[in-house]
Amino acid sequence: MIRSRFTGLGMAVPPNCIKNNDLQRYMDTSDDWIRQRSGIEQRYWVDEGVSTSDLGLEAANVALEQAKLKPADLDMILFATLSPDHEFPGTACFLQGKLGAPGIPAIDIRQQCSGFIYSVAVADQFIRTGAIRRALVVGAEVHSKGLDLTTRGRDVSVLFGDGAGAVVMEATSIQNPKTDSFLWSTHLHADGTHAQELWTAAPGTGLKTKERILQPHLEEAVHYPKMNGKSVFIHASQKMPESLQEALLANGLSSEEIDLYVLHQANLRINQKCAEVMGLPDEKVFNTIQKYGNTTAATIPIGLVEAEKASRLKQGTLVASAAFGSGYTWASMIYRW
Ligand code: UT7
Repeated sequence: MIRSRFTGLGMAVPPNCIKNNDLQRYMDTSDDWIRQRSGIEQRYWVDEGVSTSDLGLEAANVALEQAKLKPADLDMILFATLSPDHEFPGTACFLQGKLGAPGIPAIDIRQQCSGFIYSVAVADQFIRTGAIRRALVVGAEVHSKGLDLTTRGRDVSVLFGDGAGAVVMEATSIQNPKTDSFLWSTHLHADGTHAQELWTAAPGTGLKTKERILQPHLEEAVHYPKMNGKSVFIHASQKMPESLQEALLANGLSSEEIDLYVLHQANLRINQKCAEVMGLPDEKVFNTIQKYGNTTAATIPIGLVEAEKASRLKQGTLVASAAFGSGYTWASMIYRW
């Protein structure tokens, strides 16, 4: 039986640490408000010259080194981001050019906070069918260049940070499904009726104007992300546990049998709610939002790196991950590390 397993893991965050109080330079906010509502204490922002693929490259190089592979050994690149280097081509192509792995497919995945699990699921399907043996999956975001850093945009802007995470996935032949390290299953969902609850409208052909962006759009701040925070919060608090239960059921597992929950980091309160609904002890849910904010497609691989550093993730650890975000999209997966 051929399945995929994670053989390399890496992350990258830029050097500029922005504390909650630093945001008061731009908008009317406070450390208290941000901590109480989201759990976030700080986030990292890139320098002007750094792009999403630059951060992705840094994380990818670490993951490749850990997997003892060279870019030329890869069969596919998947890049999850909502903050691409440019409108087109996809950021996977920019990363591929920088990595130096010409010829292999390079695919962008645009599923926002669920983008990493969606990308892992796509790579897994190619590996299971034998079409490829090795994939690089990157989740990376440069949010800081796209946020409305004024009081008008404070409900969104205080939540997001820049960062990247990457994994190498390789085909593995399963001898013992109970103990071998491999990806057990992925579960993907979306409901586009909520597409405008968390979105950036411009530039876009969906605007009722002759061009994808015009001066009035900039003045109306249509090119910044907008969010119905309460709707996102309610749906995330339902869908995260629901998708974890779906993954547990598909694998005949109880929630106690999972060693570690590495969840998307949108809001500490969402993850606390999820743990409460599922009856999980706090120590089984690994959170990093306090340090990095919401890095969207990068939160789960960053969580894995931090969990490994903290000796919470070792070979043999049974992990469950889930994410919820813009789209709405949500997803889960279970894997033995
Ligand atoms: O991956 C998905 C990403 N997004 C999410 O997961 C977000 C989910 N939603 C949330 O986390 C919460 O809805 C927020 C943290 C965004 C907001 O929390 P809330 O408890 O829903 O607050 P609210 O929007 O009802 O705002 C309460 C007050 C408002 O003031 P008034 O009208 O009561 O005077 C806001 O203007 O807080 C104000 N406010 C702020 N104050 C200080 C909004 N943003 C800020 C801010 N600093 N950054």
